[in-house]
Amino acid sequence: MDRLAALEKDPAARERSYAAAQERILLCSKCHGEDGNSRRDYIPNLAGQNPQYLFDAFEKYVTRQRTDFVMNQAAKLLTLDERVNIAFYFSQQKVHPRPVAEPVDNALVAQGAQRFGTLCVACHGAAALGRDGIPRIAGQPRPYLSHALQRYRDKDPSRADSPMLGVAASLSDGDIAALAAYLSQLQP
Ligand code: HEC
Ligand code: HEC
Repeated sequence: MDRLAALEKDPAARERSYAAAQERILLCSKCHGEDGNSRRDYIPNLAGQNPQYLFDAFEKYVTRQRTDFVMNQAAKLLTLDERVNIAFYFSQQKVHPRPVAEPVDNALVAQGAQRFGTLCVACHGAAALGRDGIPRIAGQPRPYLSHALQRYRDKDPSRADSPMLGVAASLSDGDIAALAAYLSQLQP
């Protein structure tokens, strides 16, 4: 997106965009947190997410290529300018590590690291930070990650045409549990 790239380079425009977004995110903050750290385990963090990915996600919700009851409605309420500003705003926020609810299973985490290194690293990068249109997945809540991977694996219609459908097709339940355990504990 040219407009996002332009924002990266122009400090005054960045400040205007940031301030405009702050006014608009009241609705979002109930679920995603004011600083983009989500309030619930099934809701993704937006903090530190790649702005291009956030922007693309809005487009997919508007066109219903990606479906979610709340998000399809929320995305439609935003103008193009607001989608640019909000994508930029959340990308600038810091991810806070979540408290780990259960004891960390080191063997499971190690298995996840191994699967990630073989299957995922080429696109999501060594630290799982993604880039451009590829999402950062490090530090997302574990239940959100496993649910997302199950939906891709099961070709759930809510994720139509995603490049992840092919990638996830061969994942076992054990792979998904291991990947979610590994990725959720990565500190971004
Ligand atoms: C009622 C709770 C709720 C509200 C309010 C809400 N969201 Fe969401 N949001 C969700 C859930 C749940 C998902 C995951 C849906 C899915 O899997 O497609 C999501 C997904 C997203 C995603 C995709 C993130 C990713 O990692 O793929 C973006 C971007 C997003 N929301 C932005 C917003 C913005 C901006 C607003 C305010 C205009 C907002 N949301 C309001 C619950 C909410
Ligand atoms: C060919 C490149 C590619 C590979 C390989 C890949 N991904 Fe992805 N992944 C993507 C893209 C692009 C998206 C965004 C998809 C979309 O919006 O439909 C994505 C989305 C995701 C999401 C959803 C993030 C969110 O916030 O909703 C998760 C989780 C994920 N990938 C995990 C993985 C895991 C785990 C692997 C390895 C098993 C993997 N990916 C391999 C390109 C890839």
